[in-house]
Amino acid sequence: MLQEQDVIEALKSIQDPDLNKSIVDTGGIRDIRIKNEDNVSLKIALARTGTGEQMKVQQDIVAVVKEAGASQVGLRFEELSKEEVEEHGDLQQEQGGEEGGGILNDNTVNFIAVASGKGGVGKSTVTVNLAVALAREGKKVGIIDADIYGFSVPDMMGIENRPTVEGEKIHPVERYGVKVISMGFFVEDNAPVVWRGPMLGKMLTNFFNEVTWGDLDYLLLDLPPGTGDTAMDVHSMLPESEEIIVTTPHATAAFVAARAGAMAIKSNHRILGVVENMAYYESKTGEKEYVFGQGGGERLTEELKVEMLGQVPLGQPTIDDDDFAPSVYEREHPIGKMYENIAARVIEKKEPKEERVKSPFE
Ligand SMILES: Nc1ncnc2c1ncn2[C@@H]1O[C@H](COP(=O)(O)OP(=O)(O)O)[C@@H](O)[C@H]1O
Ligand SMILES: [Mg+2]
Repeated sequence: MLQEQDVIEALKSIQDPDLNKSIVDTGGIRDIRIKNEDNVSLKIALARTGTGEQMKVQQDIVAVVKEAGASQVGLRFEELSKEEVEEHGDLQQEQGGEEGGGILNDNTVNFIAVASGKGGVGKSTVTVNLAVALAREGKKVGIIDADIYGFSVPDMMGIENRPTVEGEKIHPVERYGVKVISMGFFVEDNAPVVWRGPMLGKMLTNFFNEVTWGDLDYLLLDLPPGTGDTAMDVHSMLPESEEIIVTTPHATAAFVAARAGAMAIKSNHRILGVVENMAYYESKTGEKEYVFGQGGGERLTEELKVEMLGQVPLGQPTIDDDDFAPSVYEREHPIGKMYENIAARVIEKKEPKEERVKSPFE
């Protein structure tokens, strides 16, 4: 059975990145709990939280505690007190230059947040497939999986590797030509990490500022569902963003989605349009069955005075065992083609023809 002492022993190898001392020596181990023999919850204090390096520390802690015999590791973080930090050598002053201010200040990037009134309507599925479709159109695309409670983008795209962290910089993972960063990359096996208030904001700021996005045309954000505080916080962090609202055809779903739309408008985000997902089921004989009702998406477009970008039916991508990505439709799939049309429409709205530099192939 795993003992507290084993966990402490394992944690000796973890350094506070700002103090260059073991977190055991800085007094950074605030709490250790072991449940059901090998289920470990830790509360760790670092000199600074919400940094790129914290993410690396997180990964390392989970790795060493698992090596010591834990089956699951839950983590919470807080900051050491000022006195504690001073006692252990103080922060290095390396936070000076802003280094260009990150991707939020790059006005050649189109930010598109994908929102929904509630979970389970296909917000992530739409985000992922729209991103892949934009990349297939030759665009440089990134995704921030900002749905911190239900991060699913890595699994949906079949991403198995993790981003590399170099000092303060985080390199995103690329799949199907899309650069991806997700909260899910920094927690192992869905171990619960508690993100609250300021910490959440810092993490998202990191995803904008410290991820090496390179040159992007589109950055899609998979927002937390709903209209609660977290969704609002994320909204207000994106000064210049447009939104796509995802709904199902069900009348009440569209009603809830309208609230998400209202929130977008309140944060001065322009709504690009609505995607109605799970719009119908098409039988082998080509008949459409409206299993989740009908008309919800349409009504939402009227209410928000925006256009319908697409009505995506129920369906599954063809599963390719050699190139596994459970939620990405192939280019030739009928639904893949629909996403291609949605992407084309988004491009048209964002880059009107007359402004676009003609490519030699046009
Ligand atoms: N058009 C669709 N047809 C069939 N299943 C779908 C469709 N869109 C989404 N799903 C499935 O529904 C579930 C919820 O979708 P997801 O994209 O995770 O929703 P959200 O991000 O809004 O919570 C997932 O299991 C997803 O694979
Ligand atoms: Mg989701």
